[in-house]
Amino acid sequence: MLCSSKRCLAPFAQRKTLWHDGPMNSFDPSTVKKIGVFTSGGDAPGMNAAVRSVVRTAIHKDLEVVGIYQGYRGFLEGNFQNLSARSVANIIQRGGTILKTDRCPEFHKPEVRAKSAQLLKQEGIDAIVCIGGDGSFTGAHLLNNEQGIPMVGIPGTIDNDIAGSEYTIGFDTAINTAVEAVDRIRDTAHSHDRLFIVEVMGRNSGFLAAEVGVAVGAEVVFTPEFPMTVDQAVQHFQNSVARGKRSSIFVSAEGQKAGRSYDLAENIRKKCGAEARVCILGHIQRGGSPSATDRVMASRMGNVAVETLLQGQCNHFIAVENNKLVTQPLEYPANNKKTFDPRLIELATTLAT
Ligand code: ADP
Ligand code: F6P
Repeated sequence: MLCSSKRCLAPFAQRKTLWHDGPMNSFDPSTVKKIGVFTSGGDAPGMNAAVRSVVRTAIHKDLEVVGIYQGYRGFLEGNFQNLSARSVANIIQRGGTILKTDRCPEFHKPEVRAKSAQLLKQEGIDAIVCIGGDGSFTGAHLLNNEQGIPMVGIPGTIDNDIAGSEYTIGFDTAINTAVEAVDRIRDTAHSHDRLFIVEVMGRNSGFLAAEVGVAVGAEVVFTPEFPMTVDQAVQHFQNSVARGKRSSIFVSAEGQKAGRSYDLAENIRKKCGAEARVCILGHIQRGGSPSATDRVMASRMGNVAVETLLQGQCNHFIAVENNKLVTQPLEYPANNKKTFDPRLIELATTLAT
């Protein structure tokens, strides 16, 4: 169980920081009358629940709320809309993000960030909640430090690859979506005595693949963090055939290039003659109604994000550490890689005997 926001919100000075103190980690919270909220990077199920929580917590605290649309593109185009409690009605169960999202390379330029800050100030936005991944947090950190706009982050990505947090919004839903899909594949794999390679998302990270691999009883799990050679995979496959297995599921993280499983299948065919079928789950994993876990996490994180700003803390994101909500510096994920625990991969292999 995660602790409630009230219990975990120790005064800022008492909390640990994993990185150095940046130029602006705290500010006078009495200046905050209107906050902005936006979603950025890849969408993740549960982002809407986080937006709802931010909006309604802020209104509960007598703040005005502005939605910034389409990620950082909305900053540079001034795409702002006032949000009321009713604006976020009937969204807790919806996937995607009502605020839209984008990847906006222009935001890498300091002059673009400076121009965006002017628009934000014209709109009277005093502080902002950013819902996204580590790239989005880097943009938020730069805006915070260069332009003095207090920023707080909420981690949202199906990859669960943000260093400093054990959990990111969307991960639980994506696992369940992938597991449901692989269960269907297993039916046909079993009927035809076939080997399937199922590719799950995860840009340079195997957190999703590892959990899905254990949950579906995969024989082999390929991840960028714990590489397995084709020879090793073929060995596992041949051993399982020798033990009497007629069908197998390999789960593979997409890594840097979606579709790499086709190369893997071809290499396996060349090594041992097995004709693997490939199924790339792709963006199916990013959509759909968020799980109860993601809705609850998003609701809690949105609430704590607003409370954090109202305590005068900024330049941090809400993170999960030892099952509790804490704050971590926004720039921490950009400078650190999340530790990958290979025991899940070993467990999948052990249990696939
Ligand atoms: P995620 O937030 O899911 O990691 P991206 O890495 O695509 O997704 O980042 C989302 C957006 O954040 C980018 O399109 C860009 O607008 C902004 N961003 C990412 N990295 C930086 C950076 N180094 N400087 C400024 N803005 C950045
Ligand atoms: O960051 C989340 C993620 O879904 C990754 O797993 C994936 O590699 C990437 O986004 C795909 O991004 P896009 O939707 O821009 O192709």
